[in-house]
Amino acid sequence: DWTMGAYREQMVEKIRDEVGDKNVICALSGGVDSSVAAALIHEAIGDQLTCVFVDHGLLRKNEAEEVVGMFRDHMNLQVIHADETELFLGELDGQSDPETKRKIIGKLFIDVFQKYADQIDGAEFLAQGTLYPDVIESVSFSGGPSVTIKSHHNVGGLPEKMGLKLVEPLRELFKDEVRALGRELGLPDSFIGRHPFPGPGLAIRCPGEITRDKLEILREADAIYIDQIRKHGLYDEIWQAFVAILPVRTVGVMGDGRTYDYACALRAVTSVDGMTADYYPFSHEFLGETATRIINEVKGINRCTYDITSKPPGTIEWE
Ligand code: XMP
Repeated sequence: DWTMGAYREQMVEKIRDEVGDKNVICALSGGVDSSVAAALIHEAIGDQLTCVFVDHGLLRKNEAEEVVGMFRDHMNLQVIHADETELFLGELDGQSDPETKRKIIGKLFIDVFQKYADQIDGAEFLAQGTLYPDVIESVSFSGGPSVTIKSHHNVGGLPEKMGLKLVEPLRELFKDEVRALGRELGLPDSFIGRHPFPGPGLAIRCPGEITRDKLEILREADAIYIDQIRKHGLYDEIWQAFVAILPVRTVGVMGDGRTYDYACALRAVTSVDGMTADYYPFSHEFLGETATRIINEVKGINRCTYDITSKPPGTIEWE
């Protein structure tokens, strides 16, 4: 892509000019935006960039290993794996209100990031994968005030607090351009084409109280669901797909025994920008086969439902 090739060179120059010989820190999530931003900045300034991967214990199966492995071992970036699972799950213990959960995670994320960033010598810049479209979702009702639906999890306000200058090399780009730039930088397609994953992670896919037990069940079910979607060649047609574990157990029968296990909901939507979405019209065959696999293979789930709510009136995530 000639446009992105030129953009890449231009931005590399610009980042070098801006940063000089100072150090840059970056919160790496493994999402497309922060990944492309990190790769681009690394190309410009090499080891003057250190990435902090905040592991809140709310990631999907194998996710931390995949992200850290790919950036550290494959792309030679300096990555700190900040495993703070105990801290996050401890603070979330017993919390069931969606906004409270989001706020706890958002605050801890900033604390943790700051703690690790403080250990990096002379960092003067914070890199962010901010895109052109706004990161805060607010809906304006005609004539009425602007209403925020969910408090968004990002590192907003952090640069001022830490006295850092911002580097935001993707500010002028839309999502599809970021993907093109990522390909240009040699990021594997498996990263470029990834579905979005929310900052609060599995916490908002586990309505009600979060327990380690539920998280483990959710990870297994989600991995099977995504595997099914890939096997049927549907991954790229879908904006986002995931499992939510419901805060209810239901009665089932397995062999000659009665079971009393969690119910889960499968979610898959098509969307252009996440602001509106339609549920994905899977075939009954796909749904049946997937439910059977999840129930047979995941200990702790005995019932599977498919969420057919579009956005609006639903949101994509369950919390
Ligand atoms: P909702 O659930 O509001 O989600 O329809 C719209 C899109 O945003 C993602 N999402 C988030 N992403 N931090 C993020 O980085 C968040 O706090 C957050 N909440 C929702 C969601 O996965 C979907 O793609």
